[in-house]
Amino acid sequence: MSIHILAIESSCDETAAAVCRDGQILSNIIASQSIHELYGGVVPELASRAHMENIVWVVDKAIKDAGIQLSDLDAIAFTQAPGLIGSLIVGAQFAKSLSLSLDKPLISVHHMQAHVLANLIPGKKPSFPFLCLTVSGGHTQIVLCESPAQMNILGETIDDAAGEAFDKSAKLLGLPYPGGPLIDRYATDGDPDRFHFPETKVPGLNFSFSGLKTAILYFLQNAGKSLVYKEQFLASEQEKKEFIDSNLPDICASVQKTIVDMLLNKLKKAVDETGVKEVCLAGGVSANKGLRETFRRMGEQEGWATYIPSFEYCTDNAAMIAMTAYYKFLEKDFASLDISPSARAVW
Ligand code: KG4
Ligand code: ZN
Repeated sequence: MSIHILAIESSCDETAAAVCRDGQILSNIIASQSIHELYGGVVPELASRAHMENIVWVVDKAIKDAGIQLSDLDAIAFTQAPGLIGSLIVGAQFAKSLSLSLDKPLISVHHMQAHVLANLIPGKKPSFPFLCLTVSGGHTQIVLCESPAQMNILGETIDDAAGEAFDKSAKLLGLPYPGGPLIDRYATDGDPDRFHFPETKVPGLNFSFSGLKTAILYFLQNAGKSLVYKEQFLASEQEKKEFIDSNLPDICASVQKTIVDMLLNKLKKAVDETGVKEVCLAGGVSANKGLRETFRRMGEQEGWATYIPSFEYCTDNAAMIAMTAYYKFLEKDFASLDISPSARAVW
């Protein structure tokens, strides 16, 4: 007998639903919310409303594309935490209602655990134990994954996430939200060694990215006239604009290189300390070409086996929620109907 699971993801600004059969993804639907571009970032209230508008058709399409009926489902899974509370509530309430009306078990999934387990979606898969660098708009973590259920966070950001570092740098360059993919695109034609930004050093396996944002701010305010990252504003607004316009690819490539080096130096440290050489990427920032290439090259040099989920499973999606739910289903790890979503649940 096959196990069919419907999974719903609504933690931020993507309304997503997926169906898996015995751990194989049958459908993966994502509705992105472009409204936030107008505001330069995600507006929580607008995100909740857009989830309410999208969720019925997104779930309907996931069921239809999977070629199954609602009555074929064996469980309903949803992202319980972490995320924007209003957004999480929409997905949680929908999943609970469906679970109640179909009389099928409910499975609650932690979003960050699911990002890690996106690496187990069929294809080339790591074996346990493996290390995973999860880099998204809200999180930056190095996780030691012993089994689908057992994960230890070895290090994480103490301030901004890697995705925020990309997005905030892009904003300073006048690029629209989300700027990470745009920095990636401009960086392709740029010289990554043209400008040097200071890397914040933090002890252990933790990260810090907020200093980079300030360094870029001061660098731009000096329009390349000084490479000293001090609060001395030598350039006019016009000069700053002209400097950005004529150097955008090199600035993007240099910013990207700084972020990638900060991430991968810590990942290498984690491999050296644990001796685990099965190494994965996860999260939206792992779509970044510079990160993917440098990660693969580092893996070859260091003798690691490296894994990166395909693009559609890197950014927020419900297939990773379905995959995680499948392992929970096998353990009969079900949630009761009185479970509440949580913006910041401990993992
Ligand atoms: O995992 P994700 O889709 O959502 C969260 O859970 O946060 O990650 C979104 C983040 C955003 O900060 C976005 O700018 C970044 O991933 N991102 C990228 C790229 N694609 C998405 N950053 C750099 N280069 C990219 N190609
Ligand atoms: Zn995410």
